[in-house]
Amino acid sequence: MARKDKKEEKLKMKMVRIYIMGKEYKVPEGLTIMKAMEYAGYRYIRGAGCRAGFCGACATVYRKEGEYKLNADLACQTTVEDGMYLVQLPFTPANKATYDVNKIKADDKTLVNFYPEIARCVSCNTCTKACPQELEVMDYIQSALRGDMKKTAELSFDCIQCGLCAMRCPAEIAHYHVAQLARRLYGKYLMPKAEHLEKRVNEIKRKRFDEEIGKMMKRNIEELRKMYNARDIEPEEEEEPKREGD
Ligand code: SF4
Ligand code: SF4
Ligand code: FES
Repeated sequence: MARKDKKEEKLKMKMVRIYIMGKEYKVPEGLTIMKAMEYAGYRYIRGAGCRAGFCGACATVYRKEGEYKLNADLACQTTVEDGMYLVQLPFTPANKATYDVNKIKADDKTLVNFYPEIARCVSCNTCTKACPQELEVMDYIQSALRGDMKKTAELSFDCIQCGLCAMRCPAEIAHYHVAQLARRLYGKYLMPKAEHLEKRVNEIKRKRFDEEIGKMMKRNIEELRKMYNARDIEPEEEEEPKREGD
């Protein structure tokens, strides 16, 4: 686009007012919070990763003009609105237990032993309302309290560790760390083994792919790009692989 056209295009853009840490900026309507902050001149050094709603690094808290409610969401997925007051939460300093997953047991007391604060849950459901992934966060904390590793792992499967639940919880629970421990233990000790995964791990151990990987390591970036674009893509609707015990 020529410079003049670009300028005209810019003049046609509808701008909205946002407030970043109290300072007013005008940014184009339709941008995500992340892009709007960059448009305003901020540079993300922490608090941004995938830019696609997967990594959970870009937690943001905002309030809309004329409302009292504080909202929590992902900066890379939420669009700016006129009169939005914003602040970023690049890190939640929540309590994280240290353990060696190879040395601990997956019994019904493990989660509460590592995270006794889950017993303080008052069932207010604030964590569920704060979750940008729309997970049933309170329910997985309750199942963790009951020692139900499977349910905790399943209900929290799509957690992206953004920390927004922990920021809002009156009982100071680090939900996502509890859930991560549950998924680790369930995956390691309790989940039925996936046949296709075991088969592939054994193939790797037998060095089946070493020669092929060695050849790829010698290719340059252009060759790799071509190979990637020409790869076989799995059909979208694939039948779930069968697990033992199904
Ligand atoms: S916000 Fe905290 S106290 Fe409230 S339901 Fe969730 S875990 Fe329980
Ligand atoms: S459960 Fe908590 S940490 Fe996980 S995605 Fe939801 S709000 Fe974020
Ligand atoms: S940057 Fe990864 S979820 Fe927003």
